[in-house]
Formats: sequence, C-alpha cells, structure tokens
Amino acid sequence: MPDSFVDQHRQQDGFLMNRFEKKVAFVTGGAQGFGEAFCRSLATEGASVVVADIDVTRAESTATELTKAGFNALAVQCDVGDEDAVGAAVSRVVDTFGGIDILVNNAGLHLTRYNQPFSTMPRADMRALFDVNVFGIVNTSIACLDTMRSRGGGTIVNISSIAAYNPITAYGVSKLTVRALTIALAHDFASAGVRCNAIAPGLIGTDSALADLPQAFVDSFIEDRQVVHRLGRMDDIVAMMLYLCADESSFITGETIKVSGGTPLWI
Ligand SMILES: NC(=O)c1ccc[n+]([C@@H]2O[C@H](COP(=O)([O-])OP(=O)(O)OC[C@H]3O[C@@H](n4cnc5c(N)ncnc54)[C@H](O)[C@@H]3O)[C@@H](O)[C@H]2O)c1
Repeated sequence: MPDSFVDQHRQQDGFLMNRFEKKVAFVTGGAQGFGEAFCRSLATEGASVVVADIDVTRAESTATELTKAGFNALAVQCDVGDEDAVGAAVSRVVDTFGGIDILVNNAGLHLTRYNQPFSTMPRADMRALFDVNVFGIVNTSIACLDTMRSRGGGTIVNISSIAAYNPITAYGVSKLTVRALTIALAHDFASAGVRCNAIAPGLIGTDSALADLPQAFVDSFIEDRQVVHRLGRMDDIVAMMLYLCADESSFITGETIKVSGGTPLWI
C-alpha cells in the first residue's frame, strides 16, 4: 500500500519515477498553462519545484496546491525581463533549497497581440515581447549558471514555438531567436556541465491559446497544417521537457525539437 499521496501518485502515473530526486527545478511562467504542468510533472518525479511567475497570486496558488499534495514547492515573484528581479529570485531559491539543477524557460508573451508584422506593431509591444521571450532567457540562464556549475552541471530547456520555422511575425522572430540562443548557450555553458535544449510546440490547447484563437482557425490548423489531426496536448510537451531534463538525453545539447503533430515537415 502506498504510504503517502506522493507514493500513490507515482504508482498511478506511468512515468519513470524519481528521476529528479534531490534536484531543484526553476520553472518560469510556472503559475499556469505549460508552466504549471511542468511544475507538477517535475515534482511528481521527485524535484523540488520553484514556481517563478510575474503573477505572484497564481504562482502562490499553484505552489500551495503542490505543497498540499505532498510535494516540495516554492512560489517566487519574478519578471524574467528584469535582470535584478531574476537575480533576487535565484538567490532566494539558492538560500531555500541550496541550489538549482534544472531551469525551464517557459515564460513567454504569445497571444495574437504579439503575432503581428513588425510594420503594424507598436514599438512598446515589440520591446515587451523581446524583453520577455529573449532577454528573459538570457537573464535567468546567466543567473542560474554559477549554482548549476557548483552542483556539477545542470539542464536548461527553453520553450520556442513552431512559429520559429515561419518567422513572419514579431513573435515568430522572437522564437527563432530562442532557437539561436539555445545553440549559443549550449556552447557557452558546456564547460560548466550545463546542457541547453529547446522545444518548439505546435498548436497546444492551453486555456490562454484556446481563449485567444478563433475555433475556425484551430480547426483548419489541425486539418490543413498538421499531419497528426488532433489538438496538441500539454502532456505532449511535458513528456519532451522531462526527457530533455533527464540523464537519458545527456548526449543532446543545442537542439530545438518540434512537438507539433508534423507542422511543418520541412527540411
Ligand atoms: N499554447 C501554445 O499553443 C504554445 C505554442 C507554442 C509555444 N508556446 C509557448 O509556451 C509558453 C507557455 O505558453 P502557455 O500557453 O502556457 O502561456 P500562458 O499565457 O498560459 O502562461 C504564461 C505564463 O507566463 C507568465 N509570464 C508572462 N510574462 C512573464 C514575465 N515577464 N515573467 C514571468 N512570468 C511571466 C504568465 O503570468 C503566465 O503564468 C510561452 O513561451 C509560449 O510562447 C505556446
């Protein structure tokens, strides 16, 4: 018989269990959507999880739910675009949990407002987009480097997008930059034993994406742009994130892996 909720949860779940025991995972944008699912799955596999989000109320409610379920979780308020705020958040986590081994750079601005051509997009939106989607990754990755190095290495997973493969909007360009940054950081951090990879999700049914996109667009995307004709699920992305964080992927760095139902199948 399982003697705690955590054991029960692990037995019910089909994953390889405890891959991240004694590890600390820092998940940006961890309060909702992909980020919340990433926090839950990493916790389920034994990690202490940091729910880092600009929305502290939601971050606290996500962390509280995890703690009540028997996991180790901490909410920290953090605007990833603000270098000082990121530094303070990382210091707090190092004081609380002793260090950081896994960084998931998930926080991103992604709705229709940012999926606009450069010629029609307000400069303020453009700056906000690149501050979060690009500088956010630079800020958190650099802030985590010393603690990862001191623990013998670590893993970083960035969230790009399928939009990076057809970058005709400012959002697409920001996510193409995430792919390039993933290569640069993989080179830069290799001597510290830190691997850096990215996932390019296709259209995934998070609440925010479904609220933003017209149903007709979603239907035609699934039918005409994908070769696997179903809506992408958060679990599809979670499984790849766990793989890229785990030792099973220790020979992979600098890569961006599409998880998109075959959108687009270009060379
Ligand atoms: N949903 C999709 O179909 C899809 C597809 C491809 C890529 N993505 C990418 O996946 C990531 C997450 O998507 P989602 O659908 O879960 O998004 P979401 O909007 O539901 O959640 C994003 C989270 O990030 C937080 N956040 C926003 N700005 C922040 C900042 N400056 N600092 C810290 N936290 C901040 C928000 O508060 C929120 O909790 C994004 O990077 C997005 O571009 C999503």
